[in-house]
This record gives sequence, C-alpha cells and structure tokens, in this order.
Amino acid sequence: MSPAATHPSLIQALRTETAELHVALEKRLPFFSERLDLALYRRLMAAYYGFYQPLEQRLQVLALIPSGLDQSLRIKLPVLRADLVALGMDAAAIEALPVCQQLPQIDSRAAALGVSYVLEGATLGGQILRRRVAEQLGLDASSGAAFLNVYGELTGRRWKDFLQYLDDRNLGEPQTLEVTRAAKATFTHFEHWLDSQKVLL
Ligand code: HEM
Repeated sequence: MSPAATHPSLIQALRTETAELHVALEKRLPFFSERLDLALYRRLMAAYYGFYQPLEQRLQVLALIPSGLDQSLRIKLPVLRADLVALGMDAAAIEALPVCQQLPQIDSRAAALGVSYVLEGATLGGQILRRRVAEQLGLDASSGAAFLNVYGELTGRRWKDFLQYLDDRNLGEPQTLEVTRAAKATFTHFEHWLDSQKVLL
C-alpha cells in the first residue's frame, strides 16, 4: 500500500492549503490582461527575477535542497536571465534590478520542500502562459519566453518525479505543517513582492 493510502498525503495538504492563494495570484497576474504588452511583460519577468534570484540562491546556500531531488536541474534563474537579455536588458541592467528582501523563511528541509513545491508547480501553469505570450506578444523560447517553458518536454516528467519525491518523504504531522506553511508563505511573499513592483492588476 502506498503511504498516500495510509496517511493524509502531503501533496493533498499542499493543494488544499494553497489553492486559494493560487487563485488569488492568478487573478492578479497580467498575463491574460488586454494591457499585456512587451513593456509590461519585460517588467513582469524582471520582477520574477527579483524573487527567484535570492530565493533559489538561498535554497542553494543553505544546502537545504531536498537531497535526492535533482535540484541542480531545477535551477531556473539562468533561463530567466537569458529571457531578460533577449528582451533587451544588458548584464549591468540585470545586476541592478531590485531583489526581494522579504523572502519566505527557510529554516528546515521541510520548509525548503514547501518552497520547492511552489516553484516546481509554477512550471505547470507556465505551459498555459507560454501559449498566451506566444499569441499576444509573438515571443518564444528564443525571444524572451523560455522561462515559461523552462523544462520543455520534460515538464510533466519532472512534476511527476517531484510528486513522487514528496510522497516518499512520509512526513509526520508537524513536518507536514512546516511544508505547507512554507508553501503558503512563498505564495504570499511572491504576491507581495510583485505588488510592490507594480506588475499586478
Ligand atoms: C496566470 C498565471 C497562472 C496560471 C494561469 C496558472 C495555472 C495553473 C494550472 C492550470 C495548474 C494545474 C496544471 C496541471 O495540473 O497540469 C497550475 C498548477 C500550479 N501552479 Fe499555477 N498558474 C499560474 C501562476 C502560478 C504562479 C505564479 C505560481 C507560483 C509562483 C503557481 C504555482 C502553481 C503550483 C504550485 C501548482 C501545482 C498545484 C498542484 O499541486 O497540482 N502558478 N497552475
């Protein structure tokens, strides 16, 4: 019997706990707004950069990357940076971008897992956003929209692997709570940061 059959599964807890936050953020992101033009898209991706840069760095530096997960393959920042270059920013401009100072607290492996859940899950919605940005702005992976399809054909595979990894953790209730708390904090901090960068509706 799988662990999921005997315990309330971690993935289920994550979904339940973050569903509302996802919907709220989705509604405020301007991807499907008529206002989405190249300038707004560039500002939006620059704001994403300002969040992913310190967050991915913190995950790496703290070495709280869940062991056993191919985390190095999951680093998205170089792709985001390449998009900004394709969108016309030079290295100096990218270096000068504001970065988020109020990140979700990552003080345990469980918390790192919760953060990773949000960053990994975002690649799923990316598949929809990538089509929208192609239609609305004519952008593809070579012209500034690679991040939205960061795993390409491996998107489904990587997500399945991540879910399997979550399932294998077999965490107890206190740790499950830590994971979901960090996932929620990632959503709220990201929304707050994007808001401060004035890229939300
Ligand atoms: C307008 C923007 C967005 C849209 C339209 C969108 C759409 C979606 C869709 C359709 C799914 C389900 C995909 C599937 O099951 O195959 C999904 C999953 C998910 N998205 Fe988004 N998304 C958006 C933005 C984001 C952002 C910005 C984040 C986080 C930074 C995020 C985090 C997640 C997570 C964690 C999941 C996985 C939920 C699960 O456990 O199944 N999404 N999104």
